[in-house]
Amino acid sequence: MQNNIEKKAPFIEFKNVERSYQMGDRTFYALRDVNLELYEGEMVVILGPSGAGKSTLLNLLGGMDTPSAGEIIFDNKNIADFSDRELTEYRAWNVGVVFQFYNLVPTLTAYENVALMGDLCKSLRKKSVWNEKGEKFTVRAPEDALKSVGLEEHMHQFPSQMSGGEQQRTSIARAIAKNPRLLLCDEPTGALDTGTGQEILKLLQDMSRTEHRTVVMVTHNSVFAEIADRVIRVKNGRIQDVQTCDDPKSAEEVKW
Ligand SMILES: Nc1ncnc2c1ncn2[C@@H]1O[C@H](COP(=O)(O)OP(=O)(O)O)[C@@H](O)[C@H]1O
Ligand SMILES: [Mg+2]
Repeated sequence: MQNNIEKKAPFIEFKNVERSYQMGDRTFYALRDVNLELYEGEMVVILGPSGAGKSTLLNLLGGMDTPSAGEIIFDNKNIADFSDRELTEYRAWNVGVVFQFYNLVPTLTAYENVALMGDLCKSLRKKSVWNEKGEKFTVRAPEDALKSVGLEEHMHQFPSQMSGGEQQRTSIARAIAKNPRLLLCDEPTGALDTGTGQEILKLLQDMSRTEHRTVVMVTHNSVFAEIADRVIRVKNGRIQDVQTCDDPKSAEEVKW
């Protein structure tokens, strides 16, 4: 399979990014010296052991955290300089997140979980600063998002009435309902068995291939590197290596 990297300017760029925490009188670096570009439509796997800084990197990408130093350039704007209000707008327009344990609201059905996110986004998108691309970024109907993850039969079930895989599909539907350019996934298959995990990987890979979203997946399982267009290896808060894959596997071919 051909890789899906667009040969044009990156749409997100990290320049000497650092995220540190003050621990008493010493500084702990969760991330440092990070220089990185992301391209539209690519599937990127961030690989590294526990504590390496993977989630920190994902949180910075998603505007859920801000760097202690350095720049994160998106659409010619530096996210590091954003006010809280601008960060909210950034997330509402651009970022969908999928977590290991789904984080669905237990008292809402699959449909309602997805609808909630869509409605919230509509109300947060006030300034239209990210609206220049127009129609592509309108919020999707919950039915539509749920259908694209194969859940049309299950949308009126509560999380407790769904399997782990179905709950994760719901959380992916919720993330894509806002039509984000960036889909960030933190160990999305970590709580699933192999077969179900494979279906989720396939879905995420399809999001990059057919819908042209940039998918960034964090994992500690090196097998998942095989489906990536690019692999970023993180260790001790630093990027060790960025590898471009000329011939990534399809998610169905990966075994673990
Ligand atoms: N809010 C915080 N305060 C202090 N240290 C933190 C905080 N968040 C993360 N860290 C530390 O930063 C390092 C990287 O964390 P994280 O990005 O969550 O790693 P990973 O996702 O690769 O397991 C860890 O050592 C973690 O303890
Ligand atoms: Mg983590």
